[in-house]
Amino acid sequence: MGPVVSLRATIQGGVIRLVARAFRACFRSQTPPGYHRHGPISDGPTHEPPYRLERVAAIDDGSLTWRGEHDAGLVQMHLLEFVENSVDFQHFAAIHGRLRLPWTEIPVPGMTIHHEATWRRDETQKHVCWFGNEATLEFRGKQIKRSGAHADVRLDGPGSIIRFDFALSRGRGRVVLYQNHTPVAPLTQHVRFRWFSGPNVPKPLASFIVGNWVSQWRQDIGIWERKIYRKNPMLTRGDGPIHQLRRWYAQFYPERGSKDARAS
Ligand SMILES: [Fe+2]
Repeated sequence: MGPVVSLRATIQGGVIRLVARAFRACFRSQTPPGYHRHGPISDGPTHEPPYRLERVAAIDDGSLTWRGEHDAGLVQMHLLEFVENSVDFQHFAAIHGRLRLPWTEIPVPGMTIHHEATWRRDETQKHVCWFGNEATLEFRGKQIKRSGAHADVRLDGPGSIIRFDFALSRGRGRVVLYQNHTPVAPLTQHVRFRWFSGPNVPKPLASFIVGNWVSQWRQDIGIWERKIYRKNPMLTRGDGPIHQLRRWYAQFYPERGSKDARAS
C-alpha cells in the first residue's frame, strides 16, 4: 500500500522546543562552521540540549569538502512525516520508482530505480534511528550493473536533522548530505540541504547525486501536505515497520499532563 499515516496532531509546541535544543547544539563550538549557519532561534535562556550531533571525521579532517547547499523553502507538513516515510517501504516503487532529471520532476524515459530499504533503532543512542536504501538503476526493466548508490541515513531526534551517507556503486565515491527540517510554525518546516564530497566526487557529480535525491523528495511533498493521521492504520504484511517507528518516535512527545503537553 502507499503512504498510510501522518499526523495532524497537536504536539508541535513540545517538539519545537526539543528541536530548538538540538539545533542549539549545532551552533556551539563542537560543530565546525559549514554544518549550519543559522543563528540562535531564541533570545531567551537556553537549556542544555538532550543530545549532540555526531561529528563526521572526514569533514573535520578535510577529506570531504563542502560542495553546495539548497534552500527548499517552507513545506506544510508534520515533522513525523519524513521519519515515517522511511519505514513505509511499499511506497518507494510507486512514488520513487522513476529516475528524474536532477533538480526537476521530469522523468527520464525508460529509466527506473529499484529500492531495497531497511530501518532500525540505534543500539546505543535512543534518539537515533537508521534508514538504509540500496538504489539500483534499471533501463527498460533491466538492471544496469554497478549503477546507483547505497545510502546510510541517520535520523537524529524527531525528524529535524537527517544525515545521508551515500556510497556510490561506481568509483568508491562518497557524498554526505544533510537535510534539515526547521520547525518555524505548527505544521510548517523550513527545509534545507547541504552536502560534502571527496576529491573523487567533483562538484558537478555531487550536485547530480543530491539533485536526484531532491527530485525524489519532491514527489512526497504533495502527499505529506494532504495526509491525515490514522492512529491505527490498516497495514499488510509487506508494509514496513510503521508501528515500531511510532513506538520509537513516542519519546519525542511531551508526557501527558506536562507543561509542554498542555501548551500544545
Ligand atoms: Fe518518499
